[in-house]
Amino acid sequence: MHKLTAHDAETQSLDLVADNIAKLTALFPEILTEGADGGKRVDFEALRELLGTAVEDKEERYNFTWHGKAQARRLAQTPSTGTLRPCPAESKHWDSTQNLFIEGDNLEVLKLLQKSYHQRVKMIYIDPPYNTGKDFIYPDNYRDNIANYLELTGQTGEDGRKLAANPETSGRYHTHWLNMMYPRLKLARNLLRDDGVIFISIDDTEVANLRKLCDEIFGEENFLSNVIWHKKYAASNDVKGIAPMHDHILVYQKSGSFERNLLPRTEKQDSLYKYDSNDGKGLWRPDNLSVKTVSESYLYPIINPKTGKTYMPPAGRCWLTSSENMQNWINESRVFFGQSGDGAPQLKRYLSEVQQGIVPQSYWSYDEVGHTDSSRKELKALFNDPPFDNPKSTGVIIRSIQIGCVKDDLILDFFSGSGTTAHAVMALNAEDGGNRKFIMVQLPEPTDKPDYPTIADIGKERIRRAGDAIIAKPASQPASQPASQPASQPASHYTSLDIGFKVFKLDSTNIKPWDVGFDDLETSLPLFTDSLKDDRSNDDVLYEILLKYGLDLSLPITTHTLASKTVYSIGMGALIVCLDKAITLDTVEGIAKLKDELQPEDSLMRVVFRDSGFADDVVKVNAVQILKQAGIEDVRSV
Ligand SMILES: C[S@@+](CC[C@H](N)C(=O)[O-])C[C@H]1O[C@@H](n2cnc3c(N)ncnc32)[C@H](O)[C@@H]1O
Repeated sequence: MHKLTAHDAETQSLDLVADNIAKLTALFPEILTEGADGGKRVDFEALRELLGTAVEDKEERYNFTWHGKAQARRLAQTPSTGTLRPCPAESKHWDSTQNLFIEGDNLEVLKLLQKSYHQRVKMIYIDPPYNTGKDFIYPDNYRDNIANYLELTGQTGEDGRKLAANPETSGRYHTHWLNMMYPRLKLARNLLRDDGVIFISIDDTEVANLRKLCDEIFGEENFLSNVIWHKKYAASNDVKGIAPMHDHILVYQKSGSFERNLLPRTEKQDSLYKYDSNDGKGLWRPDNLSVKTVSESYLYPIINPKTGKTYMPPAGRCWLTSSENMQNWINESRVFFGQSGDGAPQLKRYLSEVQQGIVPQSYWSYDEVGHTDSSRKELKALFNDPPFDNPKSTGVIIRSIQIGCVKDDLILDFFSGSGTTAHAVMALNAEDGGNRKFIMVQLPEPTDKPDYPTIADIGKERIRRAGDAIIAKPASQPASQPASQPASQPASHYTSLDIGFKVFKLDSTNIKPWDVGFDDLETSLPLFTDSLKDDRSNDDVLYEILLKYGLDLSLPITTHTLASKTVYSIGMGALIVCLDKAITLDTVEGIAKLKDELQPEDSLMRVVFRDSGFADDVVKVNAVQILKQAGIEDVRSV
């Protein structure tokens, strides 16, 4: 039975370096060599030879670099030794929800999600610190980021070190920001599906750097747009230079297989179609019958059949179609000669014939997606005294989702702030009956608000209240607008709407590190009869195992009692975990029977026990045999 330890690569998040070596050597087996320690190494010279003249090794080449880039790249590749501890008490609808709220430093969290959510996320929206000098840039620690994180957020030590702002006076102003963003975006890209897309809000301070960074990480060819969100309707009077009125939203697809959606037509657009000829074809509007590109054969007179009057296209233009087709249109009454019947010809454009949606554009005006004031009002509708200063507009995120997702996709935001993305996902689901799911990640950044000690607390409360407000709204009122009146009837139309979320918190692993020194071997050995930390619960360990095996954190977990021991079955028997102590063979036999009952999908069942959980060594050895006979080969202990 293989035992998992804190230093075991299996217990760490996906080892990206090992993964890269595997990918390279799958392509070029000849570059694989052995290090002095017997480990796998890449023969760089051999790889260079294979690539011939395509290797660029000159100092002066086209590239984008800054101080610390190499270390930032390494930072993205070091596996995390942390874990995510479940927190049902702070969650909403723990048993049924598929949404997640993860409290922690997003660098570590993204590392921990690498296995379970590899290529699973359809869309990422992020609104990172803009680096305006007032926001905090959380310092990463290459050696031990978990300890660094726990200390900075006041979870260890006295009351934590203060997070440091990144002032413009710092010589490394842009560098700090780039070092923060680079590893996070690299890790985030791995989570995107091949047909996925990322939207990143930013302002003028870092837009140029962010564009370069994303060109490198996502590929210049995957750049889709630099959307302008016109976010203010009035400039502040105290602006010295040119008043900034917009934000940027950079949009990159993961690959060419992304397909954007059309946006739903608005009532305003539909209201242009106001004529009805009672011909059974519905509403129409007059449209231009001439086009700019002149084709000789499309230059002919149109004759009004009632008046006999002839019309030529305006100078420099020609008619939309051939004279033959035009005559058909006239016969079908598709050509309109004005209300009086004596005007210039126009085309009847029927609403039923126009595209079922609108091509998204790169300019988003505040009257369509909201502005900074309406964003604050959205928060004010939920909190009397809004505890967060600069939330984004749900309208901006709803539009991004409409472009990037279909109705049951997974959306990730790892700079969650007050949780606007979660609010937008729930609101849009309520409006169009979708079942999109979200994963939000937020640092428990301390605030000065006694009711909400951290920004993560603000985010969780906003999502709780936003979900309730959406449910409380009458169906006729768009879910993305604040409730103007209480629901006149119970909102039964939202019964299947998921307004819950499971809370997880980043912490050090549940597994004790095997770092005992030889001098204190005698005193410390008894501590290691159980390799799990004493202050951790079975649920903590259970979710760490899920992460190691790359299973979805929202998978349903069922509990069985077998010979009076608790046995968890995850994903219909894909993984069985028993963390009880004094296990006897009755429990093991019960697990073997479970396999027949549950019939896991790929017929592979994996079983994990607590290493110190067996009644004695004989049981441990026999357990492996019994399970093997039942066709269960993958048996491990923690
Ligand atoms: C601009 S705000 C996002 C606001 C959000 N879009 C909204 O509408 O409320 C950026 C957020 O990222 C958080 N943040 C900064 N560094 C982080 C990190 N390393 N891990 C997780 N969150 C972080 C900050 O605490 C802040 O709340």
